Amino acid sequence: MPHVIALFNMSGGVGKSTLTMNLGYHLAADHKKRVLLIDMDPQASLTTFMGLTPFNLENTIYHSLLNKGALPIEKDVLGCDLVPANIFLSQAELKLSSELRREYKLADTLAKETSEYDVILIDCPPSLGLLSVNCLVAASTLLIPIQTEYKSVEATINLLQTTYEIAQEVNPKLKVLGAIPTMYDERTSQARRALETIEEMFLGLQNNPSFKGAVVFPPIPRRTDFANATAEHVPLALYAPRHPALEPLEVITRAMVKGL
Ligand SMILES: Nc1ncnc2c1ncn2[C@@H]1O[C@H](COP(=O)(O)OP(=O)(O)O)[C@@H](O)[C@H]1O
Ligand SMILES: [Mg+2]
Repeated sequence: MPHVIALFNMSGGVGKSTLTMNLGYHLAADHKKRVLLIDMDPQASLTTFMGLTPFNLENTIYHSLLNKGALPIEKDVLGCDLVPANIFLSQAELKLSSELRREYKLADTLAKETSEYDVILIDCPPSLGLLSVNCLVAASTLLIPIQTEYKSVEATINLLQTTYEIAQEVNPKLKVLGAIPTMYDERTSQARRALETIEEMFLGLQNNPSFKGAVVFPPIPRRTDFANATAEHVPLALYAPRHPALEPLEVITRAMVKGL
């Protein structure tokens, strides 16, 4: 069975989709893992970043969740396979809300046709609604990207509590692999303080069973090359093969491989 890892944070714009694309690429290209990426965000950033046009897609994750249709897998996009999303997914919250096992739709879907993969990465929506809960129930491991600015570190305190509650109630096996500080601007004291706060918080969570062993990964620097690369529908490694920001990505990828 594949190892299911969700990139989760209830805030938008913290780098979830960018990380999903880049980590997926490194898992496939550097570690020869068979990788399936799942776009669970109605905004479909991951689908767009990977070079597909969401609006044109007839079959998306929505159809598998709602109609129990086969997973619409786009094969070999940048070395990974991809289950795309589009804006129709925004209707799923409402439609699923009256269904039995509504929290288990994604888990049930992934249990069926994914045995050929080593790892599944889920790009979560920026919310705490039913779509997010589905991601947390389907996953066994969480990576939590946290933007290194004061505002989002505050929000993270809520996120961690909510995650813990969900983990306890619905999916006791869920473990946090670590936090990924993102958009780190090493020149500002605000960013450095935010990073310290993240490290302190994670240290404080070590006696919480869901967070035991969770680490704070080296920060992903704020670099426009990330946005430039996605604009060209490639990961940073293909856009700028010797970019210094590849190093933290490789550290995180190795930790993911170790846990497989
Ligand atoms: N490390 C980074 N440095 C600079 N810009 C980034 C970085 N990571 C992501 N971005 C840009 O920030 C925006 C939001 O990133 P995205 O991955 O879509 O976040 P999320 O999925 O959490 O909403 C995108 O335009 C993306 O290109
Ligand atoms: Mg996103």
